[in-house]
Order: sequence, then structure tokens, then C-alpha cells
Amino acid sequence: MPGRWRVPKRVAIFVSGGGSNMRALVEDMVGDHAARPAVVVSNNADAGGIAWAKGQGIATEVVDHRPFGKDRPAFEAALNTALAPHTPDILCLAGFMRVLTAGFVTPWAGRMLNIHPSLLPKYKGLHTHARALEAGDTEHGCTVHLVTPALDDGPILGQARIAVHAFDTPDTLAARVLVQEHRLYPAVLRRFASGETRPLML
Ligand code: GAR
Repeated sequence: MPGRWRVPKRVAIFVSGGGSNMRALVEDMVGDHAARPAVVVSNNADAGGIAWAKGQGIATEVVDHRPFGKDRPAFEAALNTALAPHTPDILCLAGFMRVLTAGFVTPWAGRMLNIHPSLLPKYKGLHTHARALEAGDTEHGCTVHLVTPALDDGPILGQARIAVHAFDTPDTLAARVLVQEHRLYPAVLRRFASGETRPLML
């Protein structure tokens, strides 16, 4: 079958914390998936995701943002230096809590994905679950989108929805949305790696 033996795309995954989405992506990149994990990168040496990735034998890189202070371009240059030897084709942000500037994002146009815990375009930025509750929304969810220089913007590649109940708190919403994130992000990356960019609505 033409294309069956294509070289898998190489995926870099950026995390800042526990990395449960990264883990869901990695665990899905097996078998006939058109991509494989190349490196897990974090701005935080203590990120649980880094320890897990190491345990899986996946290359890891840590670039602490703190020594760079407000100098985002210098931080991003260090990220690029760390990434270069891993020659990634696709970059997935998975709970990476640093804002990236246009200087970093633009060269990755069309190849960088992010997961955000809201039904974008609603609730860009932080505290998405509390904001959905405050607004009285009856549904909430998560979005995977292509990254553009504007924060939590860019073409939507997929969304998963949950119902909001009267008893919900930001924590209960976060927990149920996270379950959906773990379904959505691997499904979107699987399609994206094989060239499919039409939105996936779960
Ligand atoms: C996830 O809920 C993700 O959507 C969110 O951080 C969490 C990371 O969890 N991302 C953002 O808020 C980005 N603006 P994880 O480390 O367990 O994947």
C-alpha cells in the first residue's frame, strides 16, 4: 500500500506539569500511528511528565524559564537549541504554561498544536472552568487547535463537550474535562499526523 512504510513524523511535546495529556499522546503513538514521540520538553525540571517520559526511554529536555526573566526571545532561543537535535516535525503543547511569542510560533505555523480546557473561542487564558461556571454555561469542554501568535487562537482541529451540572465546581469540571482531553488530543494528533485537519467533534 503506498505510504504504508512512510517514515513516522517526529513529535515534540511541551509540558509544564503532570503531563497527563502528554502521556495520552505518547501511549497512542504506537502501531499504525503516523507519528512517534521524539522528545518531551519542559520549562520545569520537576514536572511529573519529565520523569514519566524518561522512564519510557523518551528523550527529554529541560529549559528553565526563570534565568531568562522577562527575556522571552532568549528563553525561546534556548528552547530551539534544545529541540534542534531531535528534529521534530510536529510540536504539541500539552499543559505548557509559558506564553510563546510570534518569533517562536511563526516558524511552526501549521505544525504546532495546543490543547486548551474550554470550548474556544470561549475562555481563552486561565481559570476556564470557573469562568464557564460563572457564566452559567450548560456545556463546557476542551479544544485542540493549531497555534498562532494570538493566545489560544488558531484554527480548531477538534473539540469535546461535557454537560455542566448544578453541583459542579471548578474542580469537578476540570476533572471531567481532563477525561475528555485524554480522548480528544490523541484522536486529533492521530488524524493530524496522517494529514487530516478537518475538525473532529466528539
Ligand atoms: C490541561 O487541562 C490542559 O488543557 C491545560 O493544562 C492542563 C495540563 O494537564 N492547559 C492549559 O491551560 C493551557 N492554557 P496535564 O499536564 O495533566 O496534561
